Amino acid sequence: MSKTVTHDIIIDTDPGQDDAIALLMALASPELNILGITAVAGNVPLELTQKNVRKICELAKKPETKVFAGADAPMKRQLVTAEHVHGATGLNGVELPDPEMPLQSQHAVDFIVEMLLSQPAGSVTLCTLGPLTNIALALEKAPQIAPRVKELVMMGGGLFEGGNITPSAEFNIYVDADAAKIVFDSGIPIVVMPLDVTHKALTTAKRLEGFGKLEAPIGPASIGWLEYFERFDEEKYGTDGGPLHDPNVIAYLLKPELYSGRHINVDIELNSELTFGMTVADYWHVTDKPKNAVWMTKVDADGFFDLVLERVARL
Ligand code: RIB
Ligand code: CA
Repeated sequence: MSKTVTHDIIIDTDPGQDDAIALLMALASPELNILGITAVAGNVPLELTQKNVRKICELAKKPETKVFAGADAPMKRQLVTAEHVHGATGLNGVELPDPEMPLQSQHAVDFIVEMLLSQPAGSVTLCTLGPLTNIALALEKAPQIAPRVKELVMMGGGLFEGGNITPSAEFNIYVDADAAKIVFDSGIPIVVMPLDVTHKALTTAKRLEGFGKLEAPIGPASIGWLEYFERFDEEKYGTDGGPLHDPNVIAYLLKPELYSGRHINVDIELNSELTFGMTVADYWHVTDKPKNAVWMTKVDADGFFDLVLERVARL
């Protein structure tokens, strides 16, 4: 069992059941030195996402984790949430007690800036599981942090799979497309886990068997979340299981060999209401626009679920 830290990370998240599984994985992985977890408004409003992050940390028996609250709304537009997918609390499927661990008083954006300026340049990886508001605000506040980021690994966007909140836009990008534009134009090395890859990682009944066998409280919590979360996409796509989006970000850090994609240009549609928030991904290099992101399209799905289960089982 590896004990060597391979990544110093900040996780920005909007829990969300899939965020919760991603956070459990990260909290169980000694290779990942979690400098802090920052909450952002997304699936549900900020007052819930910041509480949900702390509930998940306490479930993982990691109450010493530093948790920060960030933006409660997108940079320019009204917040769009996803209670229809995640339920009113954002973590429907399991009842967890209100957290006792503290919320840090520092704003998440100030924490992100402070960490990137104080840690050695090129040593911190940003992992985003929700809308990119906190990251974009940090870049606006301190543009000098951009070249200091080692890599930004995000769940967001879609090309071949289209969108999931509109026909052309994926939720994390759509909620704050203005922020996404700032991030994709920042020059930070970006790895994207879009719907094109997450839709190939379905929570089939067979893959969920192992989670149901885990001891309480982790077993009942993870299966409760996964079974609640998948129902919306199973009905929408008519599939056995739904796509498990956010854990792909953490899995990439632990086992990048599970994934493959192309280094391409990704731009964000901001001017059309019809396609607002679309990730215009030049996958076939039909333009000479600068390649600013690795866009993943393939995953070893069984290898991914084996890794998710193996890590969550450690808690
Ligand atoms: O489109 C899927 C993304 O939106 C996931 O991060 C999910 O948690 C929601 O935030
Ligand atoms: Ca999320």
